[in-house]
Amino acid sequence: MSKNFSNNFLLRKLHQITGIVPLGIFFGVHMFTNAKAMNGDKVFNDAVADIHHLPFLIFIETFGIFLPLLYHSVYGMMISAEARVNTNYNYGRNWLYIFQRVTGAFLFIFLLFHLLHFRWGFFGNFGLTQIAVAGNAEKAFTIVSADFKVLWVLIFYVLGVAATAWHLAYGLFLFAVDWGIVIGEKAQSLLLKGVAAVGVGLFAIGTNAAFSFVRPCGLLPGFMCEQKVEKVEKVNESKRF
Ligand code: HEM
Repeated sequence: MSKNFSNNFLLRKLHQITGIVPLGIFFGVHMFTNAKAMNGDKVFNDAVADIHHLPFLIFIETFGIFLPLLYHSVYGMMISAEARVNTNYNYGRNWLYIFQRVTGAFLFIFLLFHLLHFRWGFFGNFGLTQIAVAGNAEKAFTIVSADFKVLWVLIFYVLGVAATAWHLAYGLFLFAVDWGIVIGEKAQSLLLKGVAAVGVGLFAIGTNAAFSFVRPCGLLPGFMCEQKVEKVEKVNESKRF
């Protein structure tokens, strides 16, 4: 039965396109918003408040995020159910093909946890924060920071960011090849390097954002962040008196 679904041309194209637009774009924007945490709690809380104040937010979320995510995840699990090694690809591509499905399955669990907890406030009974970020923009940094101080949560998030970055990067490659945008062997190996750079970049931004909730400026040196600048300004002010 799953074979019929995964062979359906339109459903398959819709699965590929939802992975790039809107989900891929959302992921990039989301990591960039999270990266604002490196400049301190106020900057991050203001960024979350800006999102909460967007007009038509419920429609943007429903049609731009939740429905495409639901379709992409459920259909992705269906085609993974018939995953088999494709002998038309070389050895390396076979591993990429398998890993695309492994990261997809992991993301299903990660995103379920992520949304239930931060968006809707579940899992407070398991030693995590009890309130959702949605509707509490002024406490957003405090909520995420309290959760990320729990080691397994921080590790789970770094793995979630890694899996998403990988899944999106290789998804971009599969999309460009399947839609006939990049055809030649040389062009495809160049594209593989390009998407790898995109994946590594998104992973670096997302991971530094995650660490910014437990350490000012995350893993980066302090001079790269606004928090440091504020401190310098305060020192200068006190010198004037
Ligand atoms: C550094 C790691 C991450 C942090 C700190 C983080 C933080 C958050 C927060 C605080 C929210 C709630 C926003 C609100 O309700 O106002 C949220 C929502 C969301 N996150 Fe993440 N997230 C991270 C990683 C990810 C990853 C890897 C994905 C994968 C695509 C993702 C997908 C989503 C989605 C789909 C929503 C719902 C958006 C909405 O309700 O409008 N997040 N995230």
